Amino acid sequence: MSMTQRHSVAHGASTPGSTPAEAPDGNGSVAQAAQAVLAQSSGRGGGVQMLGIDKIYPGSDVKALDDFNLEIKPGEMVVLLGGSGCGKSTALRSLAGLEDIQRGRILVGGQDMTSVAANKRGMAMVFQAYSLFPHMSALQNVEFGLEIRGVGREERRRRAMGKLELVGLSDQAGKYTQQMSGGQQQRVALARALAIDPRVLLLDEPLSALDAKVRVQLRDEIRRIQLEAGTTTVFVTHDQEEALAIADRIGVMNHGRIEQIADPLTLYRRPATEYVATFIGLTNRLPGSSDGTQAEIFGHRVPLLPNSAKGAAVNVLVRPENITLHAVADTDAPGALGGEAQGAPARVSMVHFLGSLVRVDTVVDYSKTQVTVQMPAGELPASLGIGSPVTLEPRPVPALAV
Ligand SMILES: Nc1ncnc2c1ncn2[C@@H]1O[C@H](COP(=O)(O)OP(=O)(O)O)[C@@H](O)[C@H]1O
Ligand SMILES: [Mg+2]
Repeated sequence: MSMTQRHSVAHGASTPGSTPAEAPDGNGSVAQAAQAVLAQSSGRGGGVQMLGIDKIYPGSDVKALDDFNLEIKPGEMVVLLGGSGCGKSTALRSLAGLEDIQRGRILVGGQDMTSVAANKRGMAMVFQAYSLFPHMSALQNVEFGLEIRGVGREERRRRAMGKLELVGLSDQAGKYTQQMSGGQQQRVALARALAIDPRVLLLDEPLSALDAKVRVQLRDEIRRIQLEAGTTTVFVTHDQEEALAIADRIGVMNHGRIEQIADPLTLYRRPATEYVATFIGLTNRLPGSSDGTQAEIFGHRVPLLPNSAKGAAVNVLVRPENITLHAVADTDAPGALGGEAQGAPARVSMVHFLGSLVRVDTVVDYSKTQVTVQMPAGELPASLGIGSPVTLEPRPVPALAV
């Protein structure tokens, strides 16, 4: 999958110029004071509201954002997740003020930012490309945003060192960034973004250029740092595992809007659409008959989630761990399993050992439906192999009919 990105903003860190205390204009000092109190009481920087936003790029007739809505609580980490081209970067750049929008409003801490310039929004951004100044030391890079804001030398140094410490690089402060590894460079970029004490931190696939091990380390560290700093954060990724690992809430994006936003567990257990169900985790598509609130699958009843398709003949999206598998004894003695066989008869087509879990691919005898079952390794019936006869039963766990 090619995930190369071009970033038109040259340096990824600061949007220099303002402090959160700066009010738009014409509000008067009482209103300003009230706003300051409000901002304080709702956590540093406050929350974010993106309301009914449309974005159409010049020369295009497709909406890159199509009635896009997102509300973020103060201090929350929201991850925007979705495939390439679904509008994640556009949403982030619109929030940052780097894109003109055709419709909608953007509020931060209750303040309308829609027509406030990017460098007055108090936001900081980190991109996939490190976008550091290679001929400057780590410390100089982190100090840069403070310097152009006119922060004095000593104060600048103190704050920059504090952020380098936060990202675990205080002993590398004097090193040129071009001599650093990719992971270290992204830490510097993060320290630089945090140095301006942004109201909102924006991260656009910040880990995509790193190798797998560093990616996992740094992702956990970004979460730790974000929690410690309490900064309202939007993190964009196409990687579901990354999203599940760090998000307070994940917004799953498709065609320029959020299809569902929820905490990771809710998204997994109660997907609102087929796109969400298939984007996060594995799912089976099992034919069944529905009465509107329940579906019958393989002779078993499964409750349906609220967003389920109407109609009698449906496909039901059932997670692999929500199907139980029983081995059929060789001499399939009637009565041995308490009379008639339960569930759908099927044959094993593949067994995948995943450490503590086992995934078993099967094919249903009569319909040739492919069904994947997942279970703890310890529950795998002994002597089960390719071709083994089994029966399959869905658990009565709420599922989405489509
Ligand atoms: N500068 C641009 N000019 C024209 N179209 C663009 C531009 N940037 C992005 N797009 C289009 O807008 C849509 C969303 O892009 P983007 O926000 O970059 O998606 P994502 O970050 O989810 O991969 C895509 O169809 C993309 O081709
Ligand atoms: Mg992008």
